[in-house]
Amino acid sequence: MDYAEYLRRLPKVELHCHVEGTLRPATVADLAKKHGIALPTEDVDELYTYETIYEFLDIFRFVNSTVIDRDDFARVAYESLEDGVKLGNLKYREMFFNPTLHTPRGVPMATVMNGLADGIHAAEQDFGVRCFLIADVYRQDSPEMALAMTEDVLANRVPELIGLGMDGAEAPDPPEKFLASYQLAGKAGLRRTSHASEDAPPANITACLDVLGCERIDHGYHILSDEKVVERCRDEGIHFTCCPTSTAVVYGWPDLTAHPIKGMIEAGLKVHLNSDDPTMFRTDIGKEYVDFIGQNGYPPELAKELVLNGVDATWLDDSDKAELRREFEAELTTLDAQLVL
Ligand code: ADE
Ligand code: ZN
Repeated sequence: MDYAEYLRRLPKVELHCHVEGTLRPATVADLAKKHGIALPTEDVDELYTYETIYEFLDIFRFVNSTVIDRDDFARVAYESLEDGVKLGNLKYREMFFNPTLHTPRGVPMATVMNGLADGIHAAEQDFGVRCFLIADVYRQDSPEMALAMTEDVLANRVPELIGLGMDGAEAPDPPEKFLASYQLAGKAGLRRTSHASEDAPPANITACLDVLGCERIDHGYHILSDEKVVERCRDEGIHFTCCPTSTAVVYGWPDLTAHPIKGMIEAGLKVHLNSDDPTMFRTDIGKEYVDFIGQNGYPPELAKELVLNGVDATWLDDSDKAELRREFEAELTTLDAQLVL
C-alpha cells in the first residue's frame, strides 16, 4: 500500500464537521426538486465556490434551505457519515449542527434533532460509525436568540446531543457575547467547545477557556502570535480541531506547507485534522490527511499521533475512550504491516 492510500485508510475521529457543510450537490438538487425550490444553477457543484468566510456562510444558508422535513435531516446526516466512512475510514464523529439555520424558517427543533438522530442510527447500523451531536451558537445571532436556541435544544434533547459549540464569522462577534448560552449548557451537563482564533487574536481562545468553560478549541491558528497562550494550552493539554482545507480557502493559507497548523504541531500543541465542511470545500476527511501529511512530508509516526490525538480529544468517557484507542491501535498495526514507503 502506498503512503497516500495508507493515510486515507487510517482509522479516523472527526470532531469538527458541520453537517450542513456536508450536503452532496446531488442531494441539494434532489431536495430542491422535492420541495419546489429554485436553484440559481442546474450544476449545483458550481454553488460551492467562494473566497471569503462571508460568501461561504451565505451559500451555507442557501443550500440548507432545501433541508426541511425529518426525512431530509435523516438523509443528510446519513450521507454525511457514509461519505466519511467510504472516503476516509471514519469511525467516530462529534458533529456540529446549526439550529438557527433551520428554526427561523419554520422547521421545528424536534424535526431537526430527531431527523439527525435517525440518520445517525441508520449510519451506525449500516457502517458501524458512531456519531454524537454538538449544537452550534451562530455568532451573528443576538445573545437572546442564542439563549432561546439553547433552551429549545435542551427541551428537545436527544440522547446523541453531547455539547454546545459556536461558529459563524469570528472577527465581529467576541465569545463573551454568548456567556448566558454557555452557562446554561454547562448547567445542563453539555460539554463545551468553540471556534476561536480562526480569524481573531488569541485573546478569544483565553475567553473561550476561562469565560465560556470550553474544553476544546476549534481552529485556533492565531494562537501562534501569543507565546503565553501557546504555553498555557500546551501545559493544559488543550486539543485543537484543525481544518487545513477550509482555512486554506477562506483565510488565505493556500499553501498547506506554510499553514499555521504546522507551527502549532512544532509548538507541541495537541492537534488533529478535520474536514469542517467537506463537500462545500471539495474535500473529505481522507483527503485532509493525504494532503496535509503528504504535502508536508510528515512520517507515519506523526500521522498516527494526530489520529490518536483525535481519540484523546473525544468526549467519550474514559472506558469508551480506552476501548476506541485499543481498536485504533490494532487497526494501525495492521496498516503499518501493509505500508510500502
Ligand atoms: N460554519 C461552518 N463552517 C464554518 C467555518 N469554517 N468557520 C466559521 N463558521 C462556520
Ligand atoms: Zn467549523
